[in-house]
Amino acid sequence: MKINLANIKKAKKLLDNRDCVAIPTETVYGLAGNAYSDQACKKIFKLKKRPKDNPLIVHYYNIKDLRKDCELNYNFYKLYKKFCPGPVTFVMNLKRKSKISKIATNNNASLAIRFPRHPITRHLLKKLNYPLAAPSANLSTKVSAVSPSQVKEDFGKKIKYILNGGKSSIGVESTIIDLRKKPKILRLGGLEIIKIKKILKKEIKENLYPKRIIAPGQSKLHYSPGLPIRLNAKKISDNEAGLIFKKDKKKKKNFFYLSKKGNLNEAAKNLYSILRKIKKSKYKSIAVTKVPNFGLGKTINDRLIKASKY
Ligand code: TXA
Ligand code: MG
Repeated sequence: MKINLANIKKAKKLLDNRDCVAIPTETVYGLAGNAYSDQACKKIFKLKKRPKDNPLIVHYYNIKDLRKDCELNYNFYKLYKKFCPGPVTFVMNLKRKSKISKIATNNNASLAIRFPRHPITRHLLKKLNYPLAAPSANLSTKVSAVSPSQVKEDFGKKIKYILNGGKSSIGVESTIIDLRKKPKILRLGGLEIIKIKKILKKEIKENLYPKRIIAPGQSKLHYSPGLPIRLNAKKISDNEAGLIFKKDKKKKKNFFYLSKKGNLNEAAKNLYSILRKIKKSKYKSIAVTKVPNFGLGKTINDRLIKASKY
């Protein structure tokens, strides 16, 4: 991907002024602001219509910058070395002296952090002297955005600038792992759990659909295209949109395919774009056929389950 320095400069100028800018990441686009600034973080919540008690993920360029804000531990170093930069978010203890805005954390003593891999955003982060708070660049509870035009669909002119980094290569959000005590998965995402287990060399607890919500992303309705969704459909009627994992010969007008050849990574990359496309079509409900439940298929199923709580 070609890096346009003038665009990065423009984004930096706005961010330095405590404004918000949409940034590309390999998972989904983020709505970014200076994580040390209350003013910038307040703007993010307002633009997204996000409840104040749902803290923001903070994005860093490298471990040196992170050390100022968080207590690092052994599990973190192991996972950092193997997977960062990449599609994984760590929940850590905040240092008391940290400058992270209390608006971003909702006054919690923990912080969710990540090192995005997208080259344009890495270039930008390197130039800033603060980390970037950035939730997904979509309206709260709705489908995330994986391209500049999708960010525009949600925010129009309310965001002053969208840094163009093309289509997100992974297409679903980062995997979240709480590393404060025994490692615990809080959200499935772009990094497969099996790979994390291999590095930590142990079983990892999962807390994905808890009674008591730890991450508000775990709350009921999320990732919603704004239409009712029927899961594991065996038959699809002509008046509903069929969301189908693998392209086949049947080809009907109301069929939307996640993947040409039945590839889970390709399906994850297409998921949000197709949900947005269906929302814009004439269909008023969605029937999903079974998606294999391994690898990124688990993440796709997680998103569809949450989106179906409409
Ligand atoms: O891939 C991603 O993670 C994208 C890109 C832009 O980096 N970001 C993203 O942010 O998905 P967001 O805000 O849409 O989802 C972050 C999730 C939320 O469910 C939030 O509740 C949870 O992370 N979270 C944030 N801080 C937390 C904390 N201290 N402890 C537990 N969960 C936290
Ligand atoms: Mg989100």
